[in-house]
Amino acid sequence: MHEKELQLEVMKTLEQNMDEFISSYLTPIDKIWQPSDFLPDSSSENFKYEIEELQTFAREMPYDLFVTLIGDCITEEALPTYESWLMGLDGVDQENRVGWTQWVRAWTAEENRHGDLLGKYLYLCGRVNMREMEITTHHLINDGFDIGTSSDPYKNFVYTSFQETATNISHRRVGTLAKQSGNKKLAQMCGVIAADEARHAKAYKDFSSRIFEMDASGMMLAFEDMMRRKIVMPAHLLRESGQKAGELWEHFSDAAQRAMVYTGQDYINILKDLLDEWKIEGMKNLNDKAERARDYLMKLPDRLQRISDRIATPQLPYSFKWVKS
Ligand SMILES: [Fe+2]
Ligand SMILES: [Fe+2]
Repeated sequence: MHEKELQLEVMKTLEQNMDEFISSYLTPIDKIWQPSDFLPDSSSENFKYEIEELQTFAREMPYDLFVTLIGDCITEEALPTYESWLMGLDGVDQENRVGWTQWVRAWTAEENRHGDLLGKYLYLCGRVNMREMEITTHHLINDGFDIGTSSDPYKNFVYTSFQETATNISHRRVGTLAKQSGNKKLAQMCGVIAADEARHAKAYKDFSSRIFEMDASGMMLAFEDMMRRKIVMPAHLLRESGQKAGELWEHFSDAAQRAMVYTGQDYINILKDLLDEWKIEGMKNLNDKAERARDYLMKLPDRLQRISDRIATPQLPYSFKWVKS
């Protein structure tokens, strides 16, 4: 069977488990949290005091950590890019009310609460130049992204497995650091978002495991291809007003490294986690090309480790327009 036909076949077979996927990995709307559960209620008598407390904690946040939180929020706000991308995958038929389309809609609906919650928090916190932040978001959606997957569902599931794990880590870390400084409210917000990301990561890893069972060679080559080109983050085209697309990315990524929210080491650890999860080392029934891909992948963490040990994070401060001085 031709590679593409086999892929579509695999996507159709997987789709038959959609009810199970949705009930295992997503939460019913009447049970899941909403942003207002964690934000001050503007009709309450205590609103003024709650805002004061929220603003005091926000002022005390270290600069790099604060900037990382803003960038994470903007990344979440560019959700239209991700939804439209997933809808365009081979095997996803938007006319369908069931199957993959249903997954993409339900996943998007959960994700939409993340930018909503963080965006409202940042609006209230008194330390953000909201217009600058909004301009960055506007640009990011306008610029889209280029993650190198084409409309290949295998490559996309490798990407989303990686990416959902990365967002789980970064939201969880911001939450932990906030908690250490006594900022319980923000810690709680980041914690519930991180928990969503963990469920989503599990889902995409499971889809990928099942693809490995049905088309081991095809999936191995997809995994190899994604790792060779490196997983770029969804906000890699980040810019501020007055900049070209992508110009701000390095600065944001350096800030996240310095704040220890998302580092080069995390990238390596996620790769190791995926190699374990998908049992790559002992995988059999591969064609020659896929065997070579497996061997390349198994050696990759060590190679990346050697490179990463040599790279130092720039300590030069950068002044983001998002933050009020
Ligand atoms: Fe998210
Ligand atoms: Fe996510």
